[in-house]
Amino acid sequence: MNTAWSDAAASAAARLSFRAATLDDLDGVMRIERACFDAPWPRSVMADEIRGLGCSRLEVAVDAGGVAGFMIFQVIPPEAHLINLAVTPGDQRRGVGRALLERLLDVVRDEGVTTVFLEVRASNLVAQRLYAEAGFERIDVRRGYYADNGEDALVLSLRWD
Ligand SMILES: CC(C)(COP(=O)(O)OP(=O)(O)OC[C@H]1O[C@@H](n2cnc3c(N)ncnc32)[C@H](O)[C@@H]1OP(=O)(O)O)[C@@H](O)C(=O)NCCC(=O)NCCS
Repeated sequence: MNTAWSDAAASAAARLSFRAATLDDLDGVMRIERACFDAPWPRSVMADEIRGLGCSRLEVAVDAGGVAGFMIFQVIPPEAHLINLAVTPGDQRRGVGRALLERLLDVVRDEGVTTVFLEVRASNLVAQRLYAEAGFERIDVRRGYYADNGEDALVLSLRWD
């Protein structure tokens, strides 16, 4: 990761705290999910993620205003899968997404992960730019991956030794 990336993420991280979500965060997480995605996950599914009923983890980035962003990921060393990442629209472009991504990489590295995978919509150029700056590279395309509109997913990965 380059220095500019780390400086920006560090400045956002300084005003954020990161922790596993609790059910008290569910309203904040759903507000972001609904504002960010045309096909948001249902509240009940998100609640199950927070309760840990799936095999993924949901972490929130919190600032003075509450939940500013969240991410959902799975860790099965030596691999991790970033399933979802979103930032409150009013907080976007202030380094929160970067800080969450950097937090993910720190957490999974400590758990023995050497490769992180994710899927991103082919039309989502903003997210693709964020991931490219973090060093993710395109390794595959899943045709018609998204059920809501049949859009392709780009499969990205970041690997380190
Ligand atoms: C993608 C997302 C998480 C980025 O979060 P963010 O907090 O706005 O991102 P940051 O402020 O940390 O920006 C990091 C980099 O992302 C890219 N980026 C972020 N917003 C951008 C925009 N509006 N236009 C172009 N690039 C943008 C830039 O490369 C930026 O670096 P820069 O500011 O130095 O140019 C956020 O836009 C979001 O929640 N989008 C909706 C949900 C979504 O698409 N999630 C990804 C699913 S795979």
